[in-house]
Amino acid sequence: MDRDGETESYLGRHTTSVTAQFKNASIRRQRKLLPIFRHRDALLYLIETTQIVILIGHTGSGKSTQLTQYLHEAGWTSDSKTIACTQPRRVAAISVATRVAEEVGCPIGDVVGYSIRFEDMASDKTRIKYMTDGMLLRELLVDPLLSRYSVVMIDEAHERTISTDILLCILKKVVKRRKDLRVIISSATLQAEEFAQYFGDKSRIISIEGKMFPVDTLYLSEPTENYIDRTIKTVLDIHSQEPEGDILVFMTGRDEITQVCNSVRDFSTTGAPTLLQLLVLPLYAGLSQDLQMRVFDPAPEHTRKVIVSTNVAEASVTIDGIVYVVDCGHVKLRIYDPDTRIDSLVVTPISKAAAVQRAGRAGRTKPGKCFRLYTTTAFEALPEVSVPEIRRTNLATPILQIKAMGIENIAKLDMITPPPVKLVVNALELLYSLNALNQHGKLSTGVGDKMAELPLDPMLSKILLSSRKYDCMDQILTIAAMMSVENVYFQPQDGRAEAEAEWAKFTVDEGDHFTLHNIFKAFTQRGNQSSRWAHERYFNFKALSRAVSVRRQLLRYLELLKIPFRFASTPPSSETLRKCLVSGYFANAAKMEPDGSYRLVGREHVVVWPHPNSVMFNRTAEYIIYSEVMELGEKTYILGITKIDRDWLIEAAPEYYQIKSKHM
Ligand code: CDP
Ligand code: MG
Repeated sequence: MDRDGETESYLGRHTTSVTAQFKNASIRRQRKLLPIFRHRDALLYLIETTQIVILIGHTGSGKSTQLTQYLHEAGWTSDSKTIACTQPRRVAAISVATRVAEEVGCPIGDVVGYSIRFEDMASDKTRIKYMTDGMLLRELLVDPLLSRYSVVMIDEAHERTISTDILLCILKKVVKRRKDLRVIISSATLQAEEFAQYFGDKSRIISIEGKMFPVDTLYLSEPTENYIDRTIKTVLDIHSQEPEGDILVFMTGRDEITQVCNSVRDFSTTGAPTLLQLLVLPLYAGLSQDLQMRVFDPAPEHTRKVIVSTNVAEASVTIDGIVYVVDCGHVKLRIYDPDTRIDSLVVTPISKAAAVQRAGRAGRTKPGKCFRLYTTTAFEALPEVSVPEIRRTNLATPILQIKAMGIENIAKLDMITPPPVKLVVNALELLYSLNALNQHGKLSTGVGDKMAELPLDPMLSKILLSSRKYDCMDQILTIAAMMSVENVYFQPQDGRAEAEAEWAKFTVDEGDHFTLHNIFKAFTQRGNQSSRWAHERYFNFKALSRAVSVRRQLLRYLELLKIPFRFASTPPSSETLRKCLVSGYFANAAKMEPDGSYRLVGREHVVVWPHPNSVMFNRTAEYIIYSEVMELGEKTYILGITKIDRDWLIEAAPEYYQIKSKHM
């Protein structure tokens, strides 16, 4: 194998006009200006000689976009082998792959591709493949030695998603069997030592950390009551008082981001005139790809760019030109509470490591400022690092996957951080009640083995598998597809009442799942008029089109699992369809209280409220099942609600409800 690669020497002289060079230079030259370029040979040598390399370097130094290309250029993709690079987030996988395809000069899906759930943009030609860590985990089910790959780079490993943790654990075994395989683990400095200890003397750490510019960190003197309002004020203050430089704002999710973007736009047009224009751009996972990519475009002249982002901009994607960072101090995390058995998105304080990382985004090209919207006391009270996902997540899916790999006991795996026993027990209990596991704890044939292969959560997988029995495959496929896409409803800036009037035309008494089904059905009947149709009714055309594609893919999965599609000769009754939903969601059942709240069945101490975005908001029902939970402030909200009959619960899961009642 020829691994000499490029012979041209390093051109990156440090002149004063690095930024100007950056803008004007060709992509080739830009690549050579990145901090990682100086380490190219050292990296290639180390990877040649060491099976596991732990790579540390500041965000923006070129780890994600360059190293894969160096390896490709150096011959690691000869013999038709591929280089995999995993990302904890979908947005990052897409944006990095898009950038690298541009640098390589190929369309996406050719030499450079990506693969995320329901979107495979890789082909046989693909040699550099970006993917979510979850997708690589799925590939392990069919190719346990990852034989297609010569190098696997686990990027952003310090994020410690559960998929990353499991991948590291499996890779630790695989490298023993495949001496030719190389593993690169990219990590923030703070956590690198933990990985090194885990992998022992097979691994080496290499640092490509260059110098960062100083970042002046400012704190609030008093805690803020409302960090959203404070964020808006801070952005406007920076804009009116601070010299040129783009602003990066960290918020926790789409709703907050939309609110901040709208307010900043409004105020900046009505406030005192300034020399610079403001260009406000959101960045979050559910955003369409074109809009996501806009954040990377340099701001036009005399314009200050404000990017309001979720945590994705903390390390996963690099945006150039940031001088100011506004850090709200929070992040939205999926947290599973083993006592309430509720798996929900919760806004929680970030860790010190995350705060440092966020601030660092301001000091890449020149000295910057970071505005922390919390006090120094609050900062001191933050945990050093975030809790790894394995300690705070619902383990049903990972356990199903591990079992499908032939590993019986997750507790016996050599994980960096072992999962809490209670989380394991809860997951096993749920999988058992879904009939995914038999009484010996083994994957059941026909249910568990098939569920492990479906790219849906276990409850929804179960429903899809049951739909053949209930003779409602057509409808359930649609519902599952619609539930797998984000933001079907387009939230207008104004004219909310008009939008709601349009949406109400599709609303049915049964609840959200049936309503989603109706929207999909009406959408697909429009043919080439569908874009206009969706637009006029405040539906997100891209999301609906994606649902069409997801549905097609689910159908293909079923074919591969030898579950042929069957179209019911007579349409299933509302009751049959709802019973089918209960076959998977029985554990998410709740009973309505006189005040409009719900108490969970079998967990009566847990009180939840219908989310205002649910069609069941302000409607009455006796018993319901739900598919999503969200915490906002002090309250827990449920979404994806369908009315059911209490008797169906016991019918669907007699043992589960028996166990529960014994506990009560
Ligand atoms: O992974 P790391 O944080 O070390 O850096 P990277 O993602 O490889 O980004 C290196 C450089 O590529 C950034 O500084 C950007 O200049 C550029 N880049 C870009 O312009 N557009 C992207 N979508 C990704 C990276
Ligand atoms: Mg990166």
